[in-house]
Amino acid sequence: MTKRISTILLTYGAILVVLLTAFAFNTISNEAPDTRQLNLNEDIETKVDSVLSLMHLNEKIGQLVQYSGKWNATGPSSSNGDQHKLDKLKKGEVGSMLNVTSVASIRETQKIVMEHSRLKIPLIFAYDVIHGYKTIFPIPLGETASWDLDVIKQSAAIAAKESAASGLNWTFAPMVDVSRDARWGRVMEGAGEDPYLNSVVGVARIKGFQGDDLSHIYTIAACAKHFAGYGFGEAGRDYNTVNIGDNELHNTILPPFKAAAKAGVATFMNSFNDIDGIPATGHKVLQRDILKGKWGWNGFVVSDWGSIGEMIAHGYAEDKKHAAQIAMNAGSDMDMESYAYEAYLEKLVEENKVDIAQIDEAVKRILRIKFELGLFDDPFKYCNEQREKEEIYTDEHLAIARDVAKKSIVLLKNENDVLPLSKSLKSIAVIGPLADDKDSPLGNWRGKGDYNSAVSLLEGVTSAVGTSTKINYAKGVDLTIPTLEPGKNQFLYPLKFNTTDNSGIAEAVAMAKKSDVVLLAIGENAYQTGEGRSQTNIGFLGLQNELLEAVYKVNKNIVIVLMNGRPMDLSRVSEISPAILECWHLGSESGNAIADVVFGDYNPSGKLPVSFPHHVGQEPLYYNQKNTGRPWSSKHVTYSGYRDAPKSALYPFGFGLSYTSFKYNNLNFDKTEIDKNGSIKVSVAVLNTGDRDGEEVVQLYIRDLVGSLVRPIKELKAFEKIMLKSGETKTVSFTIDAKMLQFYTANKKWEVEPGDFDIFIGGNSKDTLKSRITITE
Ligand code: BGC
Repeated sequence: MTKRISTILLTYGAILVVLLTAFAFNTISNEAPDTRQLNLNEDIETKVDSVLSLMHLNEKIGQLVQYSGKWNATGPSSSNGDQHKLDKLKKGEVGSMLNVTSVASIRETQKIVMEHSRLKIPLIFAYDVIHGYKTIFPIPLGETASWDLDVIKQSAAIAAKESAASGLNWTFAPMVDVSRDARWGRVMEGAGEDPYLNSVVGVARIKGFQGDDLSHIYTIAACAKHFAGYGFGEAGRDYNTVNIGDNELHNTILPPFKAAAKAGVATFMNSFNDIDGIPATGHKVLQRDILKGKWGWNGFVVSDWGSIGEMIAHGYAEDKKHAAQIAMNAGSDMDMESYAYEAYLEKLVEENKVDIAQIDEAVKRILRIKFELGLFDDPFKYCNEQREKEEIYTDEHLAIARDVAKKSIVLLKNENDVLPLSKSLKSIAVIGPLADDKDSPLGNWRGKGDYNSAVSLLEGVTSAVGTSTKINYAKGVDLTIPTLEPGKNQFLYPLKFNTTDNSGIAEAVAMAKKSDVVLLAIGENAYQTGEGRSQTNIGFLGLQNELLEAVYKVNKNIVIVLMNGRPMDLSRVSEISPAILECWHLGSESGNAIADVVFGDYNPSGKLPVSFPHHVGQEPLYYNQKNTGRPWSSKHVTYSGYRDAPKSALYPFGFGLSYTSFKYNNLNFDKTEIDKNGSIKVSVAVLNTGDRDGEEVVQLYIRDLVGSLVRPIKELKAFEKIMLKSGETKTVSFTIDAKMLQFYTANKKWEVEPGDFDIFIGGNSKDTLKSRITITE
């Protein structure tokens, strides 16, 4: 009782403080207070209310506006000379800037607001820190292949530390879009085809970026994107329409977002696509009802770049004013680069088309994060030149980048134990357009990674071997033809592939001929994947196939060192080469990390987060398909499959070899029947049968045999990465409880449906032990 009374008194007390503060300042003279002085030792909610109560409508709308500096901007007031942005900053009518980087530029921009604006509400500075700021880590898809959540969290934490040391407060990562179509260029940016893997990897990244405390100088706000459905664009075409129903939406697409919201991600970004006719940016059910309503999430939603305005092109809004109305009413809080909110929200309020309460709510969400970041206490908190000099691209960070990179490599094939190579081989040919490429390993979203700053494969291999090993290098062919000056950011420009100049192949053949083994580095240029990089051909573009065949003619001992950002068609290479290493775009330390694996200093432990097809025509290809009424049969025609290609993957989800081998046995359950509240403990014995120590990712899948909605043939539900000494056996246990088995059912609820479930455990999604359990009412 006493507790209740004191709660009431406290609540009223807080309201009184707000009202008095509002009253004191709110008769709103233009002699407004500096909101930084409003630190009344209150909780953040009270402070947010206090600030809101001081704001004019134009200032409120201003908080909902985000402008970009230029690519590699040095600040809006200096290099891009955009007078409009400068005026708005001075009036306090901008809430956030993106692409303004470096302490000097951020300080300069924040100063404009602090010196000129009425309320001095600090800006929040954002940047796409996707896989590292200056120390570049593997692309997210590659890093996911480590299946090592600690390592993934650590790489995000370093990216955050470097970004924050550079003045930034907010990254547009992680992308948690489930991506199942290799044609889509942005496959590289996420955690692949599985909802569970996207959830746990997304959460690890969020924890890495945000730490436990957003106000710490080493942390930044994260952003779960793109809400929602962006990975399901028809035919793998970027920005394309998404036609999915409730089942796919709730059971496949939303779970990683829900996990992100639950983990306390500060922001969400909506997406470019429409879902079943409604552009995500204008999707009220997604943003207001589900995210902010059902999930009770209290961060803010930023639009994607220009996506509010793009609702006009979608044919969903008549004009920008209409687009602003739709987006705000749907719960899109901040307008990134559409210039729609700043132009029309005031009018829309006047006309009662947008409720001021919605604007207030959006502003509060944004202010809350600014308070949490500590920007009201000190808007220049993250602007420290010393830290910028000392805490970025350090040896320590590079060492960690190397560790993450080597753990991200997946050994796809290793016939006759070609790998690891001995360091005392007489000669190694290092061949291919990517063999001495110091730029592609940085990947597409390389933050502030310097052009050509990665360790190339050639460099890594050369420094790993002694002087008695002869390295015979030849590029063979150029993959692309330069169209920009060297070093110019290729992000916005298409690549041109070399399809004619094969003059270097003869030299490559000569090198291959005189070497014991060939390391052939082929795959994709950094800018072949990423935004706007959809492709219909997922093979080796340019003249790479020609190079492969020519080298193969003279030396069969080829180790393919793949560098790429999407699942590729490896049918030919896997037919002719004894060994394949999937090396993605591994970041700053790429060549060293690959050498660690090539020479066996590190025993590869990565597993694929995406299925690799036999043929592009199989896409979208993913292991967790549905069975259909006519599952595949090779004997008859009228079954679901292809007549000219297999139905299954060439390399399945979860697959990856080691230099040792593992055997699974003794799949054991403590019981096989439970009710909906019970739980079952399942264990399996994993034995290292080879003569090296190695790590294995033990994966648990389920299949719900009968559902009120058709269920996938397998679903990943848990995994554990373990280290086993040669000859060692470990028992790995998992607990299966009702929560793990539930799904969004025909009742439109998350629930467990009683019945039989198959449980599979193994080292990939295909080769597993299997048994059955039953769930009763
Ligand atoms: C992308 C986002 C990105 C934003 C800001 C958009 O084109 O879709 O993922 O965060 O640009 O750079």
